[in-house]
Amino acid sequence: MQTTLPRLPFTRRGIFDLPEELRAMQRSGAPAKVLTAAGDEAWLVTRYADVRPLLADTRLGRAHPVPDEAPLLSKSALSTAGPVGNYASEREDHARYRRRLTPAFSAKRMKALRGRTEEILAGILDEMATLSGPVDLHKTVSMPLSLLVICELLGVPYEDHDRFQAWFDGISNMTDFERSTDARQEMSEYMRELAQRKSAAPGEDLISDLVLSGTMDLSPQGPGGVAKLDDLSYVAASLLFAGYRTTAIKVDQGVVLLLTHDEQRTALYDEPALADGAVEEVLRYSSPDLPLLRYVREDLEIAGTSIKRGEAVLLSTLAANRDGSVFPDPEAFDITRNPNPHLSFGHGPRLCVGATLARVELAAAFRMLLRRFPGLRLAVPVEKITRRSGVLIGGLSEVPVRW
Ligand code: HEM
Repeated sequence: MQTTLPRLPFTRRGIFDLPEELRAMQRSGAPAKVLTAAGDEAWLVTRYADVRPLLADTRLGRAHPVPDEAPLLSKSALSTAGPVGNYASEREDHARYRRRLTPAFSAKRMKALRGRTEEILAGILDEMATLSGPVDLHKTVSMPLSLLVICELLGVPYEDHDRFQAWFDGISNMTDFERSTDARQEMSEYMRELAQRKSAAPGEDLISDLVLSGTMDLSPQGPGGVAKLDDLSYVAASLLFAGYRTTAIKVDQGVVLLLTHDEQRTALYDEPALADGAVEEVLRYSSPDLPLLRYVREDLEIAGTSIKRGEAVLLSTLAANRDGSVFPDPEAFDITRNPNPHLSFGHGPRLCVGATLARVELAAAFRMLLRRFPGLRLAVPVEKITRRSGVLIGGLSEVPVRW
């Protein structure tokens, strides 16, 4: 008998609610067979006790033995939506990719960026203070902050941000594969030209570091195919992509959470040192709809279910971060929660490279926004704030605020 599989993404009632389907799957415990947004079959894993170890399990990977047959998370050319890299050499390639990136995110550079982030943010808030409100926090604060900081880190000219915007919207489009691929190619081309300019005149930035390391491929990319981890334009574009909107989305979501939880906002205003705890709780509470994609490298069993080589496993950080067996009272938004071992930056060998930077930006944003605008309020009822749909990376459409 043919049964219809549940299809991702599941509907969420409120912008931060855990979908009922995920809750039921977590209760049942076993991985559930689902259809992805691309209509492909995959196994969805929802319990923290399974998701966390699987994120670090070398029997799962991001490459697929037969890439053309790999189940896709969505019809987007974004690398998180399908297979990445060469199946045979995946582990070594990825380890090399991390070794190259890690020095570029050194403690020294992050420390310097902390000061710069606060300066950049102070300038953005000064601008905001000249407006009479209501304003869209996303356009006025979150995006400029996120973009200025990532441009500074990478050494990408901020003046080109309109072009990035168009590429991001194109690449993360989940329904139009051609648009998504074209945008990815244009962005890679831009990055390649930039890297070539930097190899002639290096600066104090991450792309210059990578160019100077002499280990990256600057030659033009072959047509289509799976992204090459050694291609500098791929690395630079993926960093810009990974760091561009992700942080802005979390600033937006965090401000909405703080402004709808009066006692938490007051606590943070009275005690700015709570900003770090607020960042962790915002990250836990605002997990994205879409799970992390992995392909099984060798047959294995997850919570009693046998899964075959080549099948897709989707690790739901959204469900794991609301797992009551790890987070007491998981539906409560509590900035003093301690410990808070959320999985919002992933876990294991692929743990987010930009986590320190993102934490710096978010803590500064929550602390400085409330201090500078003690009367900050949402300018519309929270029910009117909607999620952006049709794009992989998600986030909120608009966050109107007044003060
Ligand atoms: C709050 C903001 C952010 C969130 C929630 C976030 C989340 C994540 C997650 C969940 C992963 C793991 C993906 C997986 O296991 O498949 C990841 C990886 C990654 N993130 Fe972030 N990220 C954020 C900000 C940033 C920033 C600012 C940068 C760069 C400046 C960055 C760069 C990366 C890179 C390069 C990877 C891939 C690491 C690898 O494959 O080894 N992220 N991020």
